[in-house]
Amino acid sequence: MERKSFSDSSRTLFLFLKSKLGLSSSTHFYPGNVEIKSDVQTEQGVMFRGSYPILIDRNCILRASVCLDATNGPITLGGDCILGHDTQIKSSEAGIVIGAGTVIGADVDLNAGNGSLIIGEKCNIGAHASLHGDGKGINLASECKVGTNSVLDSFGGEISFGEKTVIGNNCMVIGTGKGVHIQSNCDFHHGVILDAQGGFIEVDRFSGAGPYAIIYGHGGLTIGKYCAIAGQTVLIPANHRFDRLDVPIRAQGLSTVGISIGDDVWIGTHCVILDGTKIGKGCVIGAGSIVKGSLNEYSVVVGNPHRVIKMRNDHQVDGKAIR
Ligand SMILES: CC(C)(COP(=O)(O)OP(=O)(O)OC[C@H]1O[C@@H](n2cnc3c(N)ncnc32)[C@H](O)[C@@H]1OP(=O)(O)O)[C@@H](O)C(=O)NCCC(=O)NCCS
Repeated sequence: MERKSFSDSSRTLFLFLKSKLGLSSSTHFYPGNVEIKSDVQTEQGVMFRGSYPILIDRNCILRASVCLDATNGPITLGGDCILGHDTQIKSSEAGIVIGAGTVIGADVDLNAGNGSLIIGEKCNIGAHASLHGDGKGINLASECKVGTNSVLDSFGGEISFGEKTVIGNNCMVIGTGKGVHIQSNCDFHHGVILDAQGGFIEVDRFSGAGPYAIIYGHGGLTIGKYCAIAGQTVLIPANHRFDRLDVPIRAQGLSTVGISIGDDVWIGTHCVILDGTKIGKGCVIGAGSIVKGSLNEYSVVVGNPHRVIKMRNDHQVDGKAIR
């Protein structure tokens, strides 16, 4: 194996070369233990800044203007990665691990300051997406997709996606507090906001939300499996306190209880689910409903205030409708 080294004042960057490695004249290397394995291809503008190790596995293609900056933290990229134009990967203190086969679109910014950002195999991240893994970081399991212009920011909390979970374009996932944890095979359409707001959001597998749904986590929010939340619906597990007249409402803080949604619930478009609500398994919430309180399993409710119009489990034997 051919081995070249680019020495700087205090530390050394090692390039382990077999073939095909081409680094343009505008590539910058800073002091640090950067190690690049064989078959890496780079274009101009690549910058590696490592005061701690950056290890890039074989067959990566680093496109133009990629910047890997591992100040005080290791970055490890698996084999077969492709990093799009203007990708920036930064890590201070805790590091970033990106699994083999990951495809990362143009302008992606992965920043794992004070936390780990782990992206599993074959994840697909769209152009201009931005992932910031500070705190406990971001952990995407294999075959996840993050759409164009979406932002994932763990913000001192944690974001985790089970395998094959898909986030559409222009989505925002914020993990402040106890984070946002989405199990496998979930799908969130474009413009969805999942914002933990100091609490947590937990979504079980095969659930999802339509365009521009807003899901907050202040007092804690759990969504069961196989749930469908239609576009433009808002789930808000918090209220402003307003007891006092001498203090602006905005300054009185929040009361938070939490919201729980059972398995196999369908919530129609333009609904508002208020704090303290418990929606039982198999409920249907009609479009435009405002729901507060507890709903028994299989209730069908509509309106504001919501009213029960039927029970899905009436006239059923062994789970099958009797007509
Ligand atoms: C609730 C819903 C599923 C219909 O359920 P249904 O059991 O077939 O109910 P019906 O159509 O028989 O209506 C029963 C009563 O509820 C009323 N109703 C139905 N949906 C309502 C709604 N969204 N808001 C207020 N009232 C509603 C009907 O007017 C009717 O009232 P009435 O008994 O006084 O005449 C449907 O109306 C709905 O809201 N779907 C949501 C669609 C949606 O948001 N899709 C998003 C894509 S996932």
